Amino acid sequence: MADFAVLDPVTERVRQDFAALAEIRDPDTDGWTRTVFSEPYRASRDWVRRRMADAGLTVHADGAGNLVGVLPGRDPAAPALVTGSHTDTVAAGGRFDGVVGVLGSLEVVRQLAEHDLRLDRDLLVIDFLGEESNDYGLSCLGSRSLAGELTAEHLDRRDLHGVSLAERYRGFGLDPSEVLASAGRFARRGLHRYVELHIEQGPVLEDRGVSIGVVTAIAAIRRLVASFAGRPDHAGTRPMGDRADALVAAAEAVLAVRQEGCGAPVHGVATTSRIESEPGSPNVVPGLARMYAEMRSVDDGWLTEAQRRLAAEIGHRAADHGVTVDLTWSSDNERVSASPDVHEVIGRAADAVGVSWEPVPSGATHDAVHLARLCPMGMIFVPSRGGRSHCPDEWTDPADIAIGIRVHAATLLELDRLPDRAA
Ligand code: GLV
Ligand code: MN
Ligand code: MN
Repeated sequence: MADFAVLDPVTERVRQDFAALAEIRDPDTDGWTRTVFSEPYRASRDWVRRRMADAGLTVHADGAGNLVGVLPGRDPAAPALVTGSHTDTVAAGGRFDGVVGVLGSLEVVRQLAEHDLRLDRDLLVIDFLGEESNDYGLSCLGSRSLAGELTAEHLDRRDLHGVSLAERYRGFGLDPSEVLASAGRFARRGLHRYVELHIEQGPVLEDRGVSIGVVTAIAAIRRLVASFAGRPDHAGTRPMGDRADALVAAAEAVLAVRQEGCGAPVHGVATTSRIESEPGSPNVVPGLARMYAEMRSVDDGWLTEAQRRLAAEIGHRAADHGVTVDLTWSSDNERVSASPDVHEVIGRAADAVGVSWEPVPSGATHDAVHLARLCPMGMIFVPSRGGRSHCPDEWTDPADIAIGIRVHAATLLELDRLPDRAA
């Protein structure tokens, strides 16, 4: 791995890229907001496209809305090496989630050119469309499409305003049938390995003083919409002991969700993100309520049991309030393991660069979940200050990003040399 050491990211150049991309955001929302299908997101992708081309990549937008930059290798027939991440954000999000993987990969491409290093394989650098979960409860639109996991049922889903996902694609200039067709085209390309550089988004690396996390597995996500039906009544006259208050039942469910998450033996979490009630008048006991929650874990056994216990607990607590409840569960993604050979190469790359590393699970989801269906994958994490993420305070020190880029470069060089997978 001798040539790893010569690759030294130009921190200032990377810092300028981060600053330029951070400028392209929704001015009416806090933080650095570029949600999928929004105008700031559209503008930012033009910028990413130009920056990919500046780095020497041949860029195209595929039918699924992904930006794909190709660095040709010596052997155009060899299965391609793939990297990338995303540049969309949650509302009121930060500057680093996803962006580190896209801009960091561009820096690797520039470094390869500056050191006259040519890969044997084509390298694909992808800015995947809409990684963050959206109004349709779906993460990773672009990578999901490429893996053939975006379905016609997903496209028919409607948001709270009745707009379908297919219509959102059309509004962004994408043809939904092309989106569905993109999977076959991408898989035919022949893929070697996928590696993604990303911020950790949690506190483990910083707490342990470790430079690099090598991801072992990415958590499964189960989402819940619970609809509570009670009885609307006059808030001033209905005695407290004779109410069927749907919002109180939903509030009990919020606490039950938290309680389940707190009992997880390994990485497991449970979060309620929204609660609504009707009619919402100050003088009416709420007759209807709805809550939205999710549970995540890298431990499938716990997750399945926790889901079963939670369903029972929500039902019991609602019944105690004279309220009925209907639960709709969906899976955003199943648990995915990193492949041992990519994991091993990342660890060796970190050793070669001379930085500390530890295996870590990922509670956040990533495009890597879906690429894992197409080829072996691995992920490289860099520390997040205070473990903060999905908020404007999200921060990773430039020096830590530079270390991540060096390990990323070293990993790509070594993966390029790994023999093709058995057919
Ligand atoms: C994306 O960051 C997610 O984990 O939902
Ligand atoms: Mn991300
Ligand atoms: Mn995110």
